[in-house]
Amino acid sequence: MKIKILTLFPEMFKGFISESIIKRAIEKEVCEIEIIDIRKYSPEKHHHVDDTPCGGGAGMVLRCDIVDMAISDNKTDKSQVILMTPQGIPYSDKLARDLTKYDELVLVCGHYEGFDERIRSMANMEISIGDYVLTGGELPAMIVSDSVIRLLDNAIRKESSEDDSFSNGLLEYPQYTRPVSYKGMDVPEVLLSGNHKEINRFRLKESIRRTYLKRPDLLEKKELSKEEKVLLEEVIKEENV
Ligand code: ADE
Repeated sequence: MKIKILTLFPEMFKGFISESIIKRAIEKEVCEIEIIDIRKYSPEKHHHVDDTPCGGGAGMVLRCDIVDMAISDNKTDKSQVILMTPQGIPYSDKLARDLTKYDELVLVCGHYEGFDERIRSMANMEISIGDYVLTGGELPAMIVSDSVIRLLDNAIRKESSEDDSFSNGLLEYPQYTRPVSYKGMDVPEVLLSGNHKEINRFRLKESIRRTYLKRPDLLEKKELSKEEKVLLEEVIKEENV
């Protein structure tokens, strides 16, 4: 997959692409990331990209002609052009998985007090990462890229993303490592038993327990299997004594 990020602040992405899993994914050619400075499309002497709002008011607005040139120069027939904005579709695990199907994403980061409304018509989709307003679309673009890249083949071990929170509509089960006993907190015995059937049952049940306690809204949306229903009933009994 190729991800192109159109931004006014290319420096913000330096750490993102040069560390950890994203760095390795780029090295292994799982994905390619290109950071494009929108300012390079400005016809202005000082590379200004914004102007005062029509109708008056405070602040500056990102110009649509400059963003149009940046998008047109970077999109191809295969691209999905996505605008990062708090007015977009709420981002989710499901949307991240849907985005893995594209060969190329062009992520457009809005900035300053706002952008010209006509920029919306240049995108295939708008994404919001949550109901709060950030200073720009750069962090959202990193969040979308990070969550999509880790789902691509060979980015991380397949089992890791299959067990993720949300991937099966449940929060992930608790994990432990050594020491087995620490400050009075012990690793559950079943995890040391070597009995994989029991371990799987424990993990599924604890996944259900966490979801029941922390995110009951997810349980309402999920169609439970027979085994999951039995485990949920056990959890409800245990949690309501
Ligand atoms: N830009 C500013 N805030 C944002 C948000 N919550 N999601 C996506 N893009 C944004």
